[in-house]
Amino acid sequence: MDHTDHTTWLEIDLNVIRKNIHLLQEITGVPIMAVVKANAYGHGLIETSKAAVQAGVQWLGVARIDEALELHRAGIQAHPIVLGYTPPERAGEAAQAGIRLAVYDSQVAQAYADQARSVGKPLYVHAKFDTGMGRLGASPEGGVEWMRWLNSLAGLQVEGVFTHLAEADDPQKPTTDWQLNRFDALLSGLESAGLRPTWVHAANSAGALYFPRARYNLVRTGIAIYGLNPSARAPLPEGFRPALTWKTRLTSVKIFPPNHGISYNYRYYTRAEERIGVCAVGYADGFRRRLGNVVLIRGKKVPVVGSVCMDQCMVNLDDIPEAEMGDEVVLIGQQGENEITAEERAREWETISYEVVCELANRLPRIYID
Ligand SMILES: Cc1ncc(COP(=O)(O)O)c(C=O)c1O
Repeated sequence: MDHTDHTTWLEIDLNVIRKNIHLLQEITGVPIMAVVKANAYGHGLIETSKAAVQAGVQWLGVARIDEALELHRAGIQAHPIVLGYTPPERAGEAAQAGIRLAVYDSQVAQAYADQARSVGKPLYVHAKFDTGMGRLGASPEGGVEWMRWLNSLAGLQVEGVFTHLAEADDPQKPTTDWQLNRFDALLSGLESAGLRPTWVHAANSAGALYFPRARYNLVRTGIAIYGLNPSARAPLPEGFRPALTWKTRLTSVKIFPPNHGISYNYRYYTRAEERIGVCAVGYADGFRRRLGNVVLIRGKKVPVVGSVCMDQCMVNLDDIPEAEMGDEVVLIGQQGENEITAEERAREWETISYEVVCELANRLPRIYID
């Protein structure tokens, strides 16, 4: 695909996202909540959510109420649920838009109920329990009593109960089973008390794929729908594919004499006469300012040389004499026989693929293949 009107852009294949969701539905046998927070892990909130709904998804997980409201305003036919904290002052907006909120704190729950009553609409909530993540959530011990109280608050509809797994992406570790045992104990207490809500969810992508017992009747999958591995220890099964490709272009090709400094602070000097290309991508796009990056040009891996600038970076083209101005450069994705995955990019940057895609700047045009 040729996008000559852009200098750097993302190509996002919505067919691949739908296919990944279908695979997850087949494997897990339960409904999928597509986790679309952080601009759908960089893939674009609205387009990704529409594709997820086309694939049969009825739940969309976000981190902030503003993300949920964006989905609501776009008229997307699925339930948005805010998995993180929502200030009580915003609970009325949530109730009016049918947005589900996580609840784990009594004072906040009370304030949510007051807000919901004041707008005259029920607020649907999912009670969040901390079974071991060490983050948000009420304690599962005493959880039955707390749920009884929560259910008594006029204005709230307790629709779900959930927890989050800390180490599902390291399936050999005992943590996940320990967390799920605590969660199951809570669930059987709720069942006996007649308080088990309709929806029960615990699994992220790794949990959904590697711990069948964590599936309950809904799984919250993010990274897998984008076709990226939760971790090296919890890779995706056969059939999943990455949906995103990141490209730029060569905007200049020049010959420099030996010992010529390249880019800010001359962190690179040409060793001999060198052909240096300029790529129209920089750290403001999410391409990190570090030495040792590689990119693909004409199907070959090429070193980035010198400091990455805000909007540009330089590459050494000595190994590709045929490279010329206008050539497509791939930063994530396939070119010819070669590929740079988001996971490789993450290893290069000593981070995880999640961070690589979430950092893709808003200014990058997103081109959808549908
Ligand atoms: C509460 C919650 N559930 C589910 C997910 C999705 O996780 P993953 O992208 O590993 O599937 C996240 C992501 O961080 C999360 O915070």
